[in-house]
Amino acid sequence: MTAVKKNELVGSLYDFEEIKLSDKMFTKFAERMYELAGVDLPLTPKNHALIRNRIVKLLRRHSLKSYEEYWTMIDRGSPEMVSEFISALTTNMTSFYRESNHFDFLGSVLPDLCRKFGNDIRLWCAAASTGQEPYTIAMTANEAVGDNSASKVRILATDIDLQVLKKASSGTYEEREMQGLPPAQRHKYFEKIKAQGDEFWRAKDQIHSMIRFAPFNLMNPKYEFQHKFHVIFCRNVLIYFDEATTKKVIDNLVTCLAPGGYLILGHSESGNVKHQQLKPLSRAVYQKL
Ligand SMILES: C[S@@+](CC[C@H](N)C(=O)[O-])C[C@H]1O[C@@H](n2cnc3c(N)ncnc32)[C@H](O)[C@@H]1O
Repeated sequence: MTAVKKNELVGSLYDFEEIKLSDKMFTKFAERMYELAGVDLPLTPKNHALIRNRIVKLLRRHSLKSYEEYWTMIDRGSPEMVSEFISALTTNMTSFYRESNHFDFLGSVLPDLCRKFGNDIRLWCAAASTGQEPYTIAMTANEAVGDNSASKVRILATDIDLQVLKKASSGTYEEREMQGLPPAQRHKYFEKIKAQGDEFWRAKDQIHSMIRFAPFNLMNPKYEFQHKFHVIFCRNVLIYFDEATTKKVIDNLVTCLAPGGYLILGHSESGNVKHQQLKPLSRAVYQKL
């Protein structure tokens, strides 16, 4: 690249950062995100910076010069544009064995669930992000019920964000994304692969085959599944919802649980959960009565 071209590039990136996001446009984006995904983004300096920094990348991608132009595009937008907008504004932070006591709990109840429900156990991971959580569930099941766990335990992993779901379904991770996974589990359940000169870890079929990946929006008015779930993980997503949305989501999740089944939320999310059919058991773990 010549010096002139380099300067042009620096200039154009700099210009993008200079584009101002007005409070009016912020509110339009925030309201649309609330309608689409239930994610509540009140006008605060932190949320303003979040929307600005994430949408500026989409301005660059589509060679647009203002947030107003981008708004026109998503307002009339194709499903792909809307999906890209949702993906840009969701926060997908996750890791293997995050809030690990929940997996100790799962491992301790699974053998009993298998006995009670005839080795046909259904688990739902309702905000699966890039997949570390459902693969941790699969490894935990494998440790708890034995190597033939795929014939006893089925896991549905869903998320609203199609980009993270695609990655989750590939089960392929860079070294930095393997954080939290102990060496024994890493070598037992993942294999090293090379792609375009780089090394990755890929989930082995033993755990991959236990999981089905599908898009699902927790804002759906009703959750309709053929079977009830014995355990639902819905962790670290309710924090993005307001109280009314959280209540609706919890009500819907409870209808999907088999009696005696368990609902597991994120550690910081249990504060405002009160439901007459949910008995609190331990930190952010509930049993349906
Ligand atoms: C912070 S991650 C949590 C991931 C994982 N559950 C964990 O605890 O590590 C939150 C996830 O919730 C998803 N999400 C946000 N709004 C959603 C909605 N309305 N329906 C389904 N998933 C949603 C995001 O796409 C994101 O992947």
